[in-house]
Amino acid sequence: MSGISETDALRVYWQSSEDMSVVDSESVQTIITSPPYWDLKDYGHEDQIGTADESYEHYHNRMKAVWEECYNVLKQNGTMWIVVDTIMERGDLQLLPYHIAQRAEEVGFVLQDLITWYKPTAIAGMTDRNIVSKKEYIIYLSKNRNHTFYEENSMNGKEDPAVSDDHRLGNLWRFPVKRGTTGDNFLHKAPYPQALTDRIVRISTEPGDTVLDPFLGSGTTALSALERDRQCVGFELNQEFETVISDRLNSLQQKYLTEF
Ligand SMILES: C[S@@+](CC[C@H](N)C(=O)[O-])C[C@H]1O[C@@H](n2cnc3c(N)ncnc32)[C@H](O)[C@@H]1O
Repeated sequence: MSGISETDALRVYWQSSEDMSVVDSESVQTIITSPPYWDLKDYGHEDQIGTADESYEHYHNRMKAVWEECYNVLKQNGTMWIVVDTIMERGDLQLLPYHIAQRAEEVGFVLQDLITWYKPTAIAGMTDRNIVSKKEYIIYLSKNRNHTFYEENSMNGKEDPAVSDDHRLGNLWRFPVKRGTTGDNFLHKAPYPQALTDRIVRISTEPGDTVLDPFLGSGTTALSALERDRQCVGFELNQEFETVISDRLNSLQQKYLTEF
C-alpha cells in the first residue's frame, strides 16, 4: 500500500480481490462494484479476471472466489450491489448478470432485485448489436433476508422513474452516462456515474460504515463513500489508477475546503 492507501478513510490494496483476507470478517456494511466483464476489456494486468483466453466457466469460477470473499467480509445485515450488463459474444447474447447472480446465490447471498439502470445518453458502441443497449443491470443482494435499507429521500425530481406511485424507490433507475467514456484514458475505462453509487451509499449505509469495492478502478465508489463520511476499502490490480483516484479525492477535498 502507498499514497492514498494511508488515509484512515480509504484503504486500497493493489492486489486481486480473489483473496481479501486482509479485511476483517463481518466488517463491511455494503459492497458496491462493477466487475470486469468476460472477454470485453484488457485492463493490462496478468492477474486480471475476464481476459479473452479465459473460458466463460473459468471466468465465473474466479468471480465466485471474489463473491465468497465478499460474503465473508460483509456484516450480517449487509448488502452487495453489482453493476453489470449482458454481453454480445460472437453474435450470441450472454446473460452475464443472471449467471453472476446465480453464483452469488450459491455462495449464500439472497437475491433481492435486479434493478435496471436506464442510460438515456448511451449511444451505439463498438458491438455489432442490431439494438443499441440503453441499460445495464444492478444486481441487488443481501447476506441475509433481514438487511439494512434506508428510504431514498433524494430523488432526481418528479420525472424520475425510480419513484414509484407510493413514493418508494422503484427498480428502474435513470442515470445518464457522459459521452465518449472509452479510450486509453484510465479514468474513462469503465466508470459508472457517481450519482448511481451516491444513491446506493445513501440507501444502504450510515455515516461511519465501511463500503467495499473489490474492483475499484478509478474509485467512483470511494468518492461516494468518503463524501458521505463512510470509510472505503478497495481492491484493484492496476496501480496506474492511484493518481486518478488521488486527483479525484483531492478535488473532493477542495470542494469542501470552505466548510472547515
Ligand atoms: C469495470 S472496471 C471498474 C470501474 C470502476 N467502477 C470505476 O468507477 O472506475 C473493473 C476493474 O477491475 C479491475 N480488475 C480486474 N481483475 C481484477 C482482480 N482480480 N482484482 C482486482 N481488480 C481487478 C480492472 O483493473 C478494472 O479496473
